[in-house]
Formats: sequence, C-alpha cells, structure tokens
Amino acid sequence: MTKFVVAIDGGAGSGKSTTAKGVARRLKFFYLDTGAMYRAFTLKYLRNNGKGEEHVNMKLVRQLLGRTKIDLRQDGGETKVYLDSEDVTLAIRTPEVSSSVSQVSAISEVRVWMVAKQREIAEGKNVVCEGRDIGTVVFPNAQVKIFMQADLQVRAKRRIKELAEKRIDAETEQVVENLRFRDEHDSNRRHSPLKKAESAIVVDTTDLTIEQEIGLVRKIVEDRLESNLDI
Ligand code: DC
Repeated sequence: MTKFVVAIDGGAGSGKSTTAKGVARRLKFFYLDTGAMYRAFTLKYLRNNGKGEEHVNMKLVRQLLGRTKIDLRQDGGETKVYLDSEDVTLAIRTPEVSSSVSQVSAISEVRVWMVAKQREIAEGKNVVCEGRDIGTVVFPNAQVKIFMQADLQVRAKRRIKELAEKRIDAETEQVVENLRFRDEHDSNRRHSPLKKAESAIVVDTTDLTIEQEIGLVRKIVEDRLESNLDI
C-alpha cells in the first residue's frame, strides 16, 4: 500500500513540477513525475513512427506499449527518467515531444498502462505525485490534493527559463501556443481530463515566488501529516 500521497495537479507550467520537487525534497518523499512518463512513451512513439503520420497510429501505440519499460530513479536530488534502460531525462523535454505528448496521452490504453505503472512505482512509499489526473483518478484517496494554476504569460516565461537552463532553445510564441494547445487538449479529452478534484486546495502561483509556493504547499502537507501520525 502507498503510505502518504500528496497529489498535485495543474496545467502545463503552473509551477507544479517545481513545487512537487521542492516539497518532496524537503519532506524526503519520493517525487513521482507522471508527465515525464507520458513524455517518455511519446518519445518512443515518435522514434518509431517512421512514416511521420500526423494522426496517432493506434496499432503502433498498442505494439509499443507491450514492449516498453519506463522507470523513475532518484539519483541524489535529481530524478532520472529511463525508457527501456536508456536515460531520457533530457530527451523528453524537447519541443517535438511537447508538441505530441497531449495527443498520445489522450489514448485510453496509454492511460490505463500509465496509471497501473504509477501505482506500482508508489507502492510502499510516501510520494509527492504530480500530473493532470492524480487527485481524480490515480490516487483518489490521496491525503493531500492540490490544484495549481497561473496566468498563461507567466507560465510561458517560466517554461522558457526552464528550457534555457537545459540549453533547449524555444521561441516565446511557440511556447505560449504549446501551453495553450495542451491546456485545451488536456482539459477536454474524454479520458481522465485535467480537472480539479472536488476536495483539492487551489493554489494560484501567478504572483508567488518559487520559495513561496513550495512553503505554502509544504505547510498544507505538514499540517495534514500532523493529523496522520501513524504513517
Ligand atoms: O507535466 P508535463 O507538462 O510534463 O506533462 C506532459 C503531458 O503529459 C501533458 O501535456 C499531458 C500529459 N499528462 C497527462 O495526460 N496526465 C498526467 N498525469 C501527466 C501528464
């Protein structure tokens, strides 16, 4: 059984990764980045989609799911993402992957596979898990549920800074468009769309610094932990 789950959901660039990572590090919880898992599978799909088909090739997706291994390993303070034993931590952040990940992750077979894998990874651990459907589908019984949001332009600025730190060039317009497209797609898909869980606490990070948003969420988690002393 998973021990204590902090579920953090929100749109692309809402601050959830930075917050989830920061809170996990300070509380010594396992950081489970579910977006990285969807990105890793999308990378595999793109590498195998020889014909460069515009619409997702379902037959190929099914074939690939049957022979894919995705793993998240905590290495010091960093989380490394492995796809079939290859370290793809950087490769999953390119604009090519960002442009296709929403379509690939909307496929129900992909989601079922991912949710099972996410629960398996979390087994027996205290986790901070971030994504789009964590409080609603993956861990509906999470002890803490947070829904993060922020203004689109602010999110774009943060994303460009993050990419620059990874030495990935991106045009502002392209980033804004990608965030807008993914929000729209992720929120309106049929299977487990991005949605605030009923009991989730909304944290708007538009005017918050990283330290403030981590501090705020950490306080919420610590208050909840205090009333859960049996973990
Ligand atoms: O968190 P991120 O931006 O790295 O996520 C990449 C994409 O993966 C996102 O646009 C939608 C998808 N995703 C999802 O559908 N469900 C999740 N739990 C996490 C991510």
